[in-house]
This record gives sequence, C-alpha cells and structure tokens, in this order.
Amino acid sequence: VTKTAAAERTRALSGIQPSGVVHLGNYVGAIQRWVAEQESQDAYYMVADLHTLTLPYDPASLQERTRETLAALIACGLDPDTVVLFVQSHVEQHTSLCWLLMALARTGDLRRMTHFKEKAAEEREAANAALFAYPVLQAADVLLYGAAEVPVGEDQRQHLELVSDIARRFNNAYGETFVVPRGVTPPAGARVMNLQEPTAKMSKSGRSDLGVIFLADSDDEIRRKCRRAVTDSGERVVGEEQGPGVRNLLAIYAALGQEPYGAVVAQFDGQRYGAVKDALAERVSTVLGPKREHYHALLGEGNLLNDIMEAGAERATKVARKTLSAARVAMGFSG
Ligand code: TRP
Repeated sequence: VTKTAAAERTRALSGIQPSGVVHLGNYVGAIQRWVAEQESQDAYYMVADLHTLTLPYDPASLQERTRETLAALIACGLDPDTVVLFVQSHVEQHTSLCWLLMALARTGDLRRMTHFKEKAAEEREAANAALFAYPVLQAADVLLYGAAEVPVGEDQRQHLELVSDIARRFNNAYGETFVVPRGVTPPAGARVMNLQEPTAKMSKSGRSDLGVIFLADSDDEIRRKCRRAVTDSGERVVGEEQGPGVRNLLAIYAALGQEPYGAVVAQFDGQRYGAVKDALAERVSTVLGPKREHYHALLGEGNLLNDIMEAGAERATKVARKTLSAARVAMGFSG
C-alpha cells in the first residue's frame, strides 16, 4: 500500500490532557476517529500536559500520567511512525507562541468561554490566569503546525472558534502567517454519557467511577459497570422511544461496531434491557481487551515510550521552530 503523498493530505492536529486514565468516552468521542483517519491525514497528536496547569494538579505524578496517556493513544491504534505523536511540554515553541498570541486574544471573548465560566465558578478566587488563557495556549498548539483541521469533541467547539478568530486577526494585523483552522466535531452519536448519570458526559471528573469504563478495566469490571448501568423504568427496547440511559448503551454499542444507530435499535427491538447490557459488555471487552494488554505492555517496557517521545518531539520541533520564527518576524521581532 502506498501512502498518499504528504502534500495532498490534510494537516490535522489534536490533543488530549493527561488528567487521568483514558476511558471509553475519549475512545469513542475522539481517539477512534483519529486512528481511522491516520493514514489519510498528515496528523499531529499531542499529550497536552501544559494544559494541566490550569487547574489544581499533582506535580509528582504528572510525568506518569503523561506516559499513561501516550501509551493509551498508541494502544488504541495510533502508530507513531504514521502520525507525529508528541508531548506538548517537550516542544518549547508552544509557550513562546502562546505569549505572542496573547496580544491577539480579546479578554471579552476569553471571559465568555463556557469552560472558563464553569471552572472559574468552582475554583472561585483560586482560579488562575492560566485557566483564563487556556484557549490561547490551544491556539498556539494548533497554529504552530499549520493544521487545517482539528478533530475534537463537541465541548471543544467554542475554543476552536476562538482559535480561528485569533489566526484571522493575526493575519489581518501582521500579514498572512497562519493557516486558519477548522474544528471538526463528531456526529451526535459519538458523545458517550456516564453510565450512572446518562445526562452527563462520561468524563474522568465524574462523581462515580461506576459510570466510567476505563481502558485499564478488566473484563469483570466492564461487565459489572454495564450490568449496573442506569436505564429507565421500562423493561424492553421499543422502537426509538428510549430514555437517555438505554439510548446511551445502544449508541455506544453502535459506535464501537461502527454501525448506524438505527440498525442497532432495530437489532435489539423487543429485547430486554439485560440483553442489551450483556451484548454491550461483550463488545466493549472485545474492542478494549487487546488495547488494554498493549497498554500494560507499553507501560512495562519503559524505554520504548521514551524513544517515541523523543522522536516525536524532534519531528514536531522542526515544524514548530519555523512557524514561531515567522510569527516573530511578522510581529517585528528578530526571527
Ligand atoms: N483542551 C483540549 C481538551 O481539553 C485538549 C487540547 C489541548 C487540544 N490543545 C489542543 C485539542 C489543541 C485540540 C487542539 O480536550
């Protein structure tokens, strides 16, 4: 198989924060698609460790979390020889460009970001300036690599609009320098909800681990979490009229099998919720099981991950250095 020449492929970039163990929501909502498109795009994926500073975190475990997240991406199928896989803090140009772009970001826009508003409300006086400036660092992440597309979850759409605004404003003020990127969000079905609280997104900050299926979960844990998933007061699947809990189970089943949601509803029509849960547990184990083994093997090997991080940083730095220099010159500094 000959790969499409780099010049014809779309440059894509995305990132994932190392804030906990990768879970089914990350996989279905983002990583599955990154893997499917890695051959057809010219893709850059990074572990966004600098974003960790926006909220309270544990410095002593930061590097371990970063390695785990990187291992999870590879275990889920991203091939470090095909995509450029790197750790954000290993490429110093991210923070340099972030400062330059601060001048293009409007405080009024930053204050309107839903993520900022929610987290700032939780953190109160302790909310730091990095939380406020978070989308500017994200702009630097994207613009450094000239990414045209940024595949992200729905919750990142607003940040991506701000990134595009910053790129446009920079080009108008200082001359054509950056590719204006486009956020690409998945179809509605790709949004995985918490199994215990099906109106809330499945996320690592959820209240109960019982509602979140992690990449490292054993088959027994997967079965237990599926069996205890919240449904509705009904007993059987009836057409498309499901409550959010059952809809979530069917949607996850469909997404993991890459089948249309409607086909899955038809397949389970008239069946008991218990049968849906069993079938889901089976499918989750089939998909995640081999990835879990690969994940543990990568973490146990040590040096391999170091080599991958080093090679990725080197490839990323080559591109980032040129873009940063162009931005500096455009803004009147020495290259
Ligand atoms: N902020 C994103 C998240 O929390 C992660 C991220 C960091 C990112 N930098 C990025 C996503 C650049 C896309 C592009 O999900």
